[in-house]
Amino acid sequence: MSTFTIDTSTSRATPTPVPGKRTTAPAIRSRKSEGKTEQPIVMLTAYTMRMAQLLDPHCDVLLVGDSLGQVIYGLPSTIPVTMEMMCAHGAAVVRGSWHALVAVDMPFGSYEASPEQAFASAARIMKETGCAAVKLEGGEAMAPTIEFLTHRGIPVIGHVGLTPQAVNVLGGYGARGREQHEAAKIILDAQAVSDGGAFCIVLEGVLEDIANDVARSVAAPIIGIGASAECDGQVLVTEDMLGLFERTPRFVKRYDDLAARIGEAARSYAQEVRSRSFPTAEQTYRAKS
Ligand code: KIV
Repeated sequence: MSTFTIDTSTSRATPTPVPGKRTTAPAIRSRKSEGKTEQPIVMLTAYTMRMAQLLDPHCDVLLVGDSLGQVIYGLPSTIPVTMEMMCAHGAAVVRGSWHALVAVDMPFGSYEASPEQAFASAARIMKETGCAAVKLEGGEAMAPTIEFLTHRGIPVIGHVGLTPQAVNVLGGYGARGREQHEAAKIILDAQAVSDGGAFCIVLEGVLEDIANDVARSVAAPIIGIGASAECDGQVLVTEDMLGLFERTPRFVKRYDDLAARIGEAARSYAQEVRSRSFPTAEQTYRAKS
């Protein structure tokens, strides 16, 4: 399916979207009704305009995740990610999409102090990027902030279970919910975030049984990552599922092996440059005869 026309007057032929209606937060929320979701929600991360163009026709939601800290910037965690990074990449993804809802992660330190701080940060993200929603991490403690934002015109995606911005408190990226009290807390967190008004919730890195309990008992759609097939939707980091990294977590399915294919293309290019077999007549400008 292609819903755009190519404007060939630009050097990279940036598509001009055909006017259409973007997926909205209420449309995503209404996919789950009376505890059931007929059509699972498809979410992938995107950080750049071109990747957004390629993913958009296939996704309900494009998430500009703060995982860009590791994937794009080579940072050791999501903690150092800045508002400037999220706004620049968020705007690029909005420019490259026309159908999916674009949600942008609120970076660590931009929302936890108070609902007012969260509102100022989320409003900046929405104004500078044109995105239609923000995502923030945290359970019961963040529910009042989610309520504050949604009552002021900011659709929010929650994120519970393994919350990477809390890596220093959690002590690592291992699956959550192995202890009874931890499992109960994850369910309470998801319920609080749903009651606060989140229109969907990312549930990351939890035991399958807990994910099933959360998906069945929480009103808002649950988007799993390292969770369960019973969730109301799924999300993956696009570069993981494309096989751009040699090492990926257990919950990632690789749908391609782009790392190997890029390496092979670069090897061929290098070999042809060194042997002067690139460029050929096909790639060089000559005077018209
Ligand atoms: O930052 C991110 O990419 C995310 C997804 C893994 C859900 O939060």
